[in-house]
Amino acid sequence: MSTITTPPQPRGELTLQTIAMPRDVNANGDIFGGWLVSQMDIACGIISSRRAKGRTATVAINSMTFLRPVPVGSIVSCYCKILEVGRSSIKIAGEVWINQETNNEPTKVTEGEFIFVAIDSEGKTRSVD
Ligand SMILES: CC(C)(COP(=O)(O)OP(=O)(O)OC[C@H]1O[C@@H](n2cnc3c(N)ncnc32)[C@H](O)[C@@H]1OP(=O)(O)O)[C@@H](O)C(=O)NCCC(=O)NCCS
Repeated sequence: MSTITTPPQPRGELTLQTIAMPRDVNANGDIFGGWLVSQMDIACGIISSRRAKGRTATVAINSMTFLRPVPVGSIVSCYCKILEVGRSSIKIAGEVWINQETNNEPTKVTEGEFIFVAIDSEGKTRSVD
């Protein structure tokens, strides 16, 4: 009897898609980790601003794990999921997925946890709700 195994799925909402360009490579010829963090920060910022109905700022990145290298030319997909909402803070899980060159399988390459804070026009914290 054969068992059907479900491949791992991205967690959260597809929030940003872009292409990893040659200008973003590290010394190994793969994509620079800082560029990936930047894309995740932008994607999670979109989600936090939508939830907070206004400006938000990144106050912390709790964790960041680079699971696999990202080759140049990969289509990079950022997924975001709100984990917790506090008075002014919003905790968001961010994941980056690409399709592997060899078999086109969707593969998670990076994951991290971001904390955003809702701020007013003067940069002071404000309540989310
Ligand atoms: C965001 C900012 C306004 C927060 O000001 P602050 O005086 O630290 O605010 P508070 O101490 O009241 O904390 C606000 C919330 O953030 C949370 N928070 C603050 N630092 C945190 C940290 N390191 N980890 C997790 N949560 C944190 C607090 O728990 C609080 O949550 P709550 O309101 O839901 O209970 C201020 O730190 C700031 O301007 N930082 C720079 C932001 C920025 O430029 N980001 C981009 C850099 S890449």
